[in-house]
Amino acid sequence: MTTALTIDIDVARGRIASGEKLTDVAAGLGLPWQRLSKALRGKARGGPAPSAAHPNPETEIADGANEPPRPIREVPRQALTERLRPRRLADVAGQETAVALLRAFAASPYPAAFVLAGDTGTGKTSAAVALAGELGCDVAAGEYGGVHVVASGEQTADNVREALDRLTYSSWSGSGWKVLIVNEADRMCRPAETIWLDRLESIPAKSVIIFTTNEPERLAPRFMDRCTVLQFESRADVVKLEAMRFIASIWKRETGRDLPECEAAALFDSCVNDGQFSFRRAVVRLQRTLLRSNGKAGN
Ligand SMILES: Nc1ncnc2c1ncn2[C@@H]1O[C@H](COP(=O)(O)OP(=O)(O)OP(=O)(O)O)[C@@H](O)[C@H]1O
Ligand SMILES: [Mg+2]
Repeated sequence: MTTALTIDIDVARGRIASGEKLTDVAAGLGLPWQRLSKALRGKARGGPAPSAAHPNPETEIADGANEPPRPIREVPRQALTERLRPRRLADVAGQETAVALLRAFAASPYPAAFVLAGDTGTGKTSAAVALAGELGCDVAAGEYGGVHVVASGEQTADNVREALDRLTYSSWSGSGWKVLIVNEADRMCRPAETIWLDRLESIPAKSVIIFTTNEPERLAPRFMDRCTVLQFESRADVVKLEAMRFIASIWKRETGRDLPECEAAALFDSCVNDGQFSFRRAVVRLQRTLLRSNGKAGN
């Protein structure tokens, strides 16, 4: 019996052409890379030509079958926010200052702590994960690849101690660098903060600790002074140009078509709240718009 998976083959090809690895594209689609590779080769050997009715023919990949790909409708495999989570620092949009500093750090790292501060949906957690990747951690392997996380709401003294021990004693694969990401650091309890004050003065070898926060003012100055603080930008007037590019590039990548500037501007405006723009909100709204247009196409 064969299992059928559906993807937009031209979109997959476009993503690979724009520099993404075949294995990453395949993982994002929930496919073994061998199957994606085979599908791409099949298309190159003479899959269906684009038509007016199907400007972006989508392709069925049948396990072990040799039949040529057939155009069918897309089945989303992953929320767009996850599929488009920046994998490299260069993919974090609209944060030039923070990204430049993190890239310089990745080129010549040392044990350090960072606070990534800024509004929700500006790329703080994504930048932390991307930095881990650039330090040579195997992000997909999680702790085994050197990436440790203390989730928001779990920042008790015991959890912080345990995370620091794991950082110090765990075995790892990859470059040997380890990254501990502590999300929503402003929610930590007082005893946890006390532990950090002590331990941030002697960060383990080849380790980087990254705190993210929406409310840096809630963190004690003594804590902040032990970290390099990077502000993530959300002011709509500052990020507008970059955000419009971001919106247009996702649309192009997902549909193969250009998004008229007035529509990009309308989408941008709808993602501004109180003068602050959220990149996450933009991706979520783009996904909703894509679903709607797919729905109309199917009527
Ligand atoms: N600067 C950005 N560049 C590209 N994509 C972004 C950016 N910021 C957010 N996104 C999109 O939004 C999703 C969520 O981003 P992320 O988790 O990094 O935000 P955050 O700043 O950590 O938000 P929060 O404060 O709510 O934790 C990402 O997977 C990505 O799709
Ligand atoms: Mg976050």
